[in-house]
Amino acid sequence: MGIGWRRSGSFRRGSEDFSPCGGYGLEDGGGAGTFRGVNSCASLGIGLAGFGTVGSGVWNTLERNGDLITGRTGGGVMLHVAKILVRDPAKARAATGEVPAERFTTNWRELVEDPAVDIVVELIGGTTDAFEIVAAALRARKPVVTGNKALLAERGVELFALSREMDVPIHFEAAVAGGIPIIRTVQDSLIGNRIHSISGIINGTSNYILGRMTDAGLTFETALAEAQGLGYAEADPALDVNGWDAAHKAILLATLAYGFPIDPGLVHVSGIEQVRPIDITFSKNLGYVVKLLAVIREHADGSVELRVQPSFIAKTNILASVHGVFNAVAVHGDAAGEALFYGRGAGQDPTASSVVADLVEASRSLRQASGHRGFLLYRENGRLVPVEETSTAYYVRFDVTDRPGVVAEIARVLADHRIGISGTHSPVNPANPDAEFVDMVFLLHTCAYGKLKQALAEIEGLDCINSEPVVFRIESLG
Ligand code: NAP
Ligand code: HSE
Repeated sequence: MGIGWRRSGSFRRGSEDFSPCGGYGLEDGGGAGTFRGVNSCASLGIGLAGFGTVGSGVWNTLERNGDLITGRTGGGVMLHVAKILVRDPAKARAATGEVPAERFTTNWRELVEDPAVDIVVELIGGTTDAFEIVAAALRARKPVVTGNKALLAERGVELFALSREMDVPIHFEAAVAGGIPIIRTVQDSLIGNRIHSISGIINGTSNYILGRMTDAGLTFETALAEAQGLGYAEADPALDVNGWDAAHKAILLATLAYGFPIDPGLVHVSGIEQVRPIDITFSKNLGYVVKLLAVIREHADGSVELRVQPSFIAKTNILASVHGVFNAVAVHGDAAGEALFYGRGAGQDPTASSVVADLVEASRSLRQASGHRGFLLYRENGRLVPVEETSTAYYVRFDVTDRPGVVAEIARVLADHRIGISGTHSPVNPANPDAEFVDMVFLLHTCAYGKLKQALAEIEGLDCINSEPVVFRIESLG
């Protein structure tokens, strides 16, 4: 059984021997079996499923700061990695010190069932094996810590139901915005607020790529390769660039803030793969910056708007200064007003920081019931706003056959749909001033996305249009 504290003597962390109570002068506060009280001292075994970027970061952080954590918990928590799950035990690892070979396994059941494992940390990613591991850990009554937003966004309703049934918590601070403690902020610190909106930059990889394309003129592919090399990208980087990693995180935040299950199939998501250097040049010239934004907003009737897409934001907006792997989440509560949370949104150490915080929380939950927080689905008639009903201004890029009257043809359709135009531009390519096919950009006034979609469907039918128009939002984030 995972619940309850096991006393242990000294154990080996890296190359040194540690005595759980050594140095703190604390006494064992309980008898055999369950230990209670802050003066109890016990070594808790972690089953670390995944030893890649984040998993090895957790190991390193515990190696570096394990004693500090023990001190800060009043000597009550000593954490050690008892078992490690990987696919390939022979792979070279970027871990501090020596990791004893016998701790590795390739069989997740062995890890979950090991009596030396008290808390299961899922850091393998994906939604299949990860689901099995988390469900098995809950059934074995072992608290779970995970950084897997895809798993919780896609299958969180099932897993949190099981967590309540087994009365065993799932902690997931690392699942959103890496090292920024935003989950706890929404769950705890802002619990007294009606949340009006949560918006921001919640994918480090895409922010890094857009920044490198803008500031260093890198190609999309080169910038993505850099982000992968730095450990920011998902194992499947398509999730970063197609917007779904940010959407998974936005689903988690919206579920916590609004208390109803969100069907990922109803969320409007587009990613940065459509962003071309010409869009970046245009955004600069027009006083904007291109960012992948997640927008969650409650409407007056209680329905919730949730969308992720590349957007133009004014250079003067505070989110425009969020560079590289940094994330920023702006939360607007009715009592707290506007609060902005900023920090590293991906990478080994920042993410490990959140995982380790959850490990301490999980170890506290083993000592005394801390209640269930995860997905608490209290709102029965929760509803997502269809994206067609959401309104912003827009930047639309058309690939047109350059001939006299093209602007007028497009403008006429927009006028028929009562969509206002605030600007239009067609740059001359100095390398090919007589090009037959050119990019033509329209800046459009605020209108419902559904109305824009209808107009664009009509425009696509014009014989001067060569491919599907590219649409970015212009967000005022007011
Ligand atoms: P990673 O570097 O690809 O590491 C994954 C680890 O899991 C590897 O050790 C791999 O084994 C192991 N693994 C994968 N599938 C397995 C399976 N079926 N059975 C056994 N072992 C398996 O991934 P990561 O970047 O650390 O991300 C892990 C999780 O944290 C993901 O859910 C991700 O979304 C989340 N996360 C990542 C970051 C970040 O900045 N990277 C930030 C926040 C959250 P091998 O080493 O043998 O291949
Ligand atoms: N791939 C993710 C990102 C990791 O770049 O934001 C952090 O969740």
